[in-house]
Amino acid sequence: MISPGTRPGHSDAILDYIKKQTVIFSKDVNELSNAVNKINLQDTVSINPAIQALKKARIQYKRISFFLDYFYPFDGKLYNSPAKREVEEPFLEYEEPRGFQVIEAELFKRHAEKNKRYLKDELVVLKESSDDLLSVYFGFEGSDAQVLESMRIELIRIMTLYISGFDAPILKTGIMESLSAIESMKAINKIISNVEDTALSERLRAAAQYLRNPVGFDRFDRLEFLTAYAIPLEEALGKYIKNNGLELNTSKYLDYNGGNLFREEVKMRGSETNKEMSSLGKKLFFDFSLSGNHVRSCSSCHQPGKYFTDQQGLNRTLDNSRFLKRNTATLIYSGYQFAQFWDGRAETLSDQAHDVLMNKEEMAFQTDSGRHISMDTIQAALAAYIRTLSPMNSSFDRFMNGEKNALSEEQKKGFNLFMGKAACGTCHFAPVFNGSTPPFYNRTEYEVLGVPEKNNAQRNKLDPDLGRYTVYPVDVYRRAFKTPTVRNVQFTQPYMHNGVFKNLDEVMNFYNLGGGRGMGLKVPEQSLPDKPLHLSKKEKLAIIAFLNALTDSLNNIN
Ligand code: HEC
Ligand code: HEC
Repeated sequence: MISPGTRPGHSDAILDYIKKQTVIFSKDVNELSNAVNKINLQDTVSINPAIQALKKARIQYKRISFFLDYFYPFDGKLYNSPAKREVEEPFLEYEEPRGFQVIEAELFKRHAEKNKRYLKDELVVLKESSDDLLSVYFGFEGSDAQVLESMRIELIRIMTLYISGFDAPILKTGIMESLSAIESMKAINKIISNVEDTALSERLRAAAQYLRNPVGFDRFDRLEFLTAYAIPLEEALGKYIKNNGLELNTSKYLDYNGGNLFREEVKMRGSETNKEMSSLGKKLFFDFSLSGNHVRSCSSCHQPGKYFTDQQGLNRTLDNSRFLKRNTATLIYSGYQFAQFWDGRAETLSDQAHDVLMNKEEMAFQTDSGRHISMDTIQAALAAYIRTLSPMNSSFDRFMNGEKNALSEEQKKGFNLFMGKAACGTCHFAPVFNGSTPPFYNRTEYEVLGVPEKNNAQRNKLDPDLGRYTVYPVDVYRRAFKTPTVRNVQFTQPYMHNGVFKNLDEVMNFYNLGGGRGMGLKVPEQSLPDKPLHLSKKEKLAIIAFLNALTDSLNNIN
């Protein structure tokens, strides 16, 4: 077997292809710039050519973006970063939004023609750097193994981000953009493999053909695309890489051995299973002596029979005198996130256990000299136990692994709405459907939804809990909360950090209105789009039916 580093690669031919596509891209950015220059401040209609030019540039961008993101991530960031301010922790540096997503947001504002000045400034930067891209590639020496890994990562983006509308929420060009990326992979595969009739070329061709079928963004059948095209393609690419000795894994949390994204390809942080530790953790979890007054164990609030919640709005403090501030979170899949608690104040599960054990309201731990277990061991053991709580055996999981009857027609429709029209999948990312962000699943997202204090239509007030802001006091974190998993929500009611919604109908109504702002509240930093989703009653029910298909069997856990 030849090691990835030594096999003679095809970097020259690959770069030639990328350069050709880059030249077209740079022309498209110039066209966009011209269209923006022609915007007439008195004429709303004059923004339409700019919108069309933006679409074209975005679609062409995906011909090269996986290459840029892999080999030149700094340059890639310029074009397609999110249209909201991001905070780089722990130094609290703002990253100003820029690139296509900001331009998109500006072009679709009311009276966008008035933003011409701002749009022009944005485009000066994009134009200069796209004109310069070819020189960035100078001296490129990427190996075939690296290029193939960049394709593997791009497939994850396609399956989770592009088809859900994550980076072009209003333009809705995600399907065409996926096609662009696949077309480039086809071209590169031809260069690398030199043979046309391999399983991989066949899968690439089939996926491209399916994406080319113009059904529109809302009606695109994501479930069929994933199961019949994208997953088989991902597996074929994996096999090709393996058979040719070109395996490479530069990411920390992806485990390609699973074969596809829906088969535990997303690894858990520190997921090394240590049976001894996790069984000790399980004992401690149910041990009442952990709490100062011996009346509580972790399982008093995180009850296994209630999917590790208490199914109460707010539980009570240890001395029973007051209510806790927040709704008890489920622990199933907590191992699959990079922040614990609704505000993410603990990074790891061990930090989290420390926080709870030292928290006088929940539990107060007193070292018992009769026992020879250190605090460190207790924390590590509890964390190890919680990491085992990730069954991934719901009907949805079974369907994705080939059990064709595992989902009803309504549930399938619900998945497509969740990942498409209703845009749930742009925050609750597949496959865990939490805030761990693809393609690397190495950080957890916080979002501002504008959750109300009470769920009454009249005289509504925003919930006073400032969320992540209490951990890092920057404006974009005011009322931001961690995006939790929606797996097992059938049994984790009530919902949200304050438990304000009793059932999933209420949750669906909230989202359908456009969150807090959509219901008429003032939410300055709301990151959830505030436009109504226009979901019919049937569509809302279908989404709920899909959410119910995410219920795991806990038989092997308790
Ligand atoms: C009195 C009820 C109560 C007890 C007892 C309790 N918890 Fe919790 N737990 C909560 C609440 C409430 C939250 C959410 C708090 C927040 O986000 O601020 C939570 C959150 C968590 C989280 C974060 C989950 C996530 O996805 O963010 C973990 C992990 C956790 N608890 C583990 C434990 C462990 C381990 C114990 C025992 C040592 C324990 N809890 C005892 C009520 C309790
Ligand atoms: C902008 C990002 C975003 C979008 C889009 C989004 N969610 Fe959420 N979701 C969140 C966040 C953040 C929370 C936690 C908010 C809180 O507690 O205040 C949440 C909470 C939930 C909960 C409650 C979970 C629990 O354990 O309490 C459910 C259910 C849910 N979302 C379903 C959906 C559905 C269905 C959609 C699509 C209609 C959707 N979400 C769209 C970010 C989002």
